[in-house]
Amino acid sequence: MKTETRTSSSFDVEKIRLDFPALHQEVHGKPLVYLDNAATSQKPRAVIDAITHFYERDCANVHRGVHTLSMRATESYEGAREKLKRFLNASSRKEIVFLRGTTEALNLVAQSWARPRLKPGDEIVLSRLEHHSNIVPWQILCEQTGAVLKVVPLNEHGEFELEAYRELLGERTRLVSVAHVSNALGSILPLEQIVADAHRVGAKVAVDGAQAVPHGPVDVQALDVDFYCISSHKMYGPTGIGCLYAKQELLEAMPPYQGGGDMIASVRFEGTTYNELPYKFEAGTPNIAGVIGFGAAVDYLASIDFAAAIEHENSLLEHATDLVGSLPGVRILGTAEHKVSVLSWVMQSAHPHDVGTILDQEGIAVRTGHHCAQPVMERFGVPATVRASFGIYNTHGELEALARGLEQVRKVFS
Ligand code: ALA
Repeated sequence: MKTETRTSSSFDVEKIRLDFPALHQEVHGKPLVYLDNAATSQKPRAVIDAITHFYERDCANVHRGVHTLSMRATESYEGAREKLKRFLNASSRKEIVFLRGTTEALNLVAQSWARPRLKPGDEIVLSRLEHHSNIVPWQILCEQTGAVLKVVPLNEHGEFELEAYRELLGERTRLVSVAHVSNALGSILPLEQIVADAHRVGAKVAVDGAQAVPHGPVDVQALDVDFYCISSHKMYGPTGIGCLYAKQELLEAMPPYQGGGDMIASVRFEGTTYNELPYKFEAGTPNIAGVIGFGAAVDYLASIDFAAAIEHENSLLEHATDLVGSLPGVRILGTAEHKVSVLSWVMQSAHPHDVGTILDQEGIAVRTGHHCAQPVMERFGVPATVRASFGIYNTHGELEALARGLEQVRKVFS
């Protein structure tokens, strides 16, 4: 096994780590090694402070008051929308709808865009790499409309099979809904080709971008996607908040997802008219503190050298692949040519949950299970994997701790 110490040039990971208070603790008497970033990332002080500031100083409802606190809250909330618009390079702030996260965004697309439009026999194309949140909303929609799902297979590396995808597209294809990056394997999907081919047959494209935005810049206009869904908590922001990007003309033509306060222009028992975009899709008091924290996460990523951070993550992935892959009895799942810093594997004779429990005793946090992607597990003939997912603050030393932890597992189970 390779255990040499590696570093990533031009990136000061120790400086970055100082920004994240939760990293500096012990678990079971060992320094925390947090390798579960694809489930959720830790939060920098700047995000925590932005949320605290809202509750300590500006706590009021948005869009509703003429008083100072309400105006301050509204300014920060709408300021965050502007930040997300720039982060995704949307063409207008009207195209950014704040929601609970990627799951809610995909459900909104299913119920508000697809449900009124799809007819029995219409086709929705997904891939076998999808998280359950990009499968189940479409299954529900198919029950409601009579539409049918078509599923693009994966090759043995966990890569999206582009040729098979092209064969599935046809005149009945109304929507393609795919992940940008697989949460279980880390594979990056060839979105440019996927979008171009879908548009060629007149289909729209929805993207689960939850696992992509922490690992590199995303430009929704350059990608020409119709819908792009993200969650704040995977990109160093708070939980329970995310957003949907959708092209303005699509949002204009879609009915509201939920009814309630703030999404209306006027309400009478004879009939209600809806608010302008994006408020038509933001019924009720929103997660104001969450949105402000989300904006602070965008600012945080803009404040660091993101390109160098991604290069650092890639060097972690390469090192971790060498370390884990060289252990006897380990099978790595997901060896795509293009992938982000996610490593999934199984170990002969040790169940993933046992691996996770032993690693936890060493202070190492990994995710074990099916990762809400059971069709991926089925493709590789396993019920579960161990998954280590790396963020901008992980170190090569932590990978060596992981390798020592896995040696420990091997000893226990040999
Ligand atoms: N979707 C999250 C994960 O992959 C929870 O772990």
